[in-house]
Amino acid sequence: MPHSTDPTALLNGIYAFIDPAQVRTDPDSCLNYGRDWTRLYAPNPLAVVLPNSIAQVQALVRYANEHRLALVPSGGRTGLSGAAVACRGEIVVALERMNQILDFDPVDRSVTCQAGVVTETVQNFARDHGLYYPVDFASRGSSQIGGNIATNAGGIKVIRYGLTRDWITGLKVVTGSGDLLDLNRGLIKNASGYDLRHLFIGSEGTLGIIVETTLKLTRPLCEPVVMVLGVPDLDSVMSLYHVFRNKLELSAFEFFSEPALGHVLKKGLHRPFDAATPYYVLIEFENPGQLHTDTALALFEQCAEQGWLADGVISQSEHQAKELWRLREDISESISEHLPYKNDLAVRISRAPAFLAEADALLTREYPDFEVLWYGHIGDGNLHINILKPTAMDHPAFVAKCGAVSEHLFGILQQYGGSISAEHGVGLTKKPYLHYTRDAAEISYLRAIKKAFDPNGIMNPGKIFD
Ligand code: MLT
Ligand code: ZN
Repeated sequence: MPHSTDPTALLNGIYAFIDPAQVRTDPDSCLNYGRDWTRLYAPNPLAVVLPNSIAQVQALVRYANEHRLALVPSGGRTGLSGAAVACRGEIVVALERMNQILDFDPVDRSVTCQAGVVTETVQNFARDHGLYYPVDFASRGSSQIGGNIATNAGGIKVIRYGLTRDWITGLKVVTGSGDLLDLNRGLIKNASGYDLRHLFIGSEGTLGIIVETTLKLTRPLCEPVVMVLGVPDLDSVMSLYHVFRNKLELSAFEFFSEPALGHVLKKGLHRPFDAATPYYVLIEFENPGQLHTDTALALFEQCAEQGWLADGVISQSEHQAKELWRLREDISESISEHLPYKNDLAVRISRAPAFLAEADALLTREYPDFEVLWYGHIGDGNLHINILKPTAMDHPAFVAKCGAVSEHLFGILQQYGGSISAEHGVGLTKKPYLHYTRDAAEISYLRAIKKAFDPNGIMNPGKIFD
């Protein structure tokens, strides 16, 4: 969006309600705050503003409306779809100074906090109070609650605990018009009409700015145990899923391929067992007083007899469980230097086997010379398929090739009723493909909703759709 007047004058106007010490325009800040983990777009914000109160956020949104300034809300910027990227002279609104836990209620089992609180801080706070915030993923140490809500973050425990959406009982937002809405206020039941809270969850900063939230907490997992199993093929991954899920309450069911494992091994981790197999499954379950280990070991034997697994390991301590988790969780970071083209697909779990077979055939045919890595939250029907850029290939040519293959892949996905983004969001990277998941009528309702909350189109313009 073009600026209505001279940038210096615009910034001077902001200083009327925000201390200049809370505004940054230096190149390092613009670079750091103007990008996310995609590293695909050249950051170019006009400025970075670090508000410290709801009143300041509201004043900024009102000012942006007056001057038709585009705002990009910004949390930990660990996103993978470009939703927090500011590359068109926008103002980044970084919530990191709004990082206080405001209230804890043991009766409600809830915590109220500002949007800039880091995910791990909430997790630790819950643990210190004998409770558990179960939304969890590798970027827990830097992602912020506001960003998690804006992307409806999923992660590694969705099979048991659901997505961020399932844990939000209250939300305060400043809409694109500058109104402060106090949504649902921690209630469990509230049948008083449209639940606007859920429109803001997953809205990727396009409707307004999330400033505060109330989160539900639950009781902690009891002595979690992790198994990593070596698996010959994708069909066996799904067979293991059925067998283990039928007998144990799983808190995670993840998978990754041998080439994906190869990258974390290069970073210094060790193979979980001697045998290398095409795929691996990571299963986590609660094991109070060793109650479920025997069942898990019996299932292991049964599956080995069927040829669905070749080898495996079961954690004997919390430390070992954490080390096994790293085999899966460290994949993303271990491949980032290869500028992967990332797919984050979702299909209904019942359709996963057939979809996997078709996708595998397509990718083998279309990417004969590229390294294709499979991993993800297969227990939720969420697949991360990452294509690594060959060193000799220039980046634009690589992205063009992957984009062309994506059209085929998403065409297949559409036949299965799947989604082009399970958990990373649409942002900029998946915007051209939104129509594979949402039909034209649905997209026109999305546009109308945006218009209702953000009539001047100042909130993160160009993200999700144009
Ligand atoms: C993961 O599951 O590891 C994250 O979603 C990040 C990624 O897909 O690379
Ligand atoms: Zn993931």
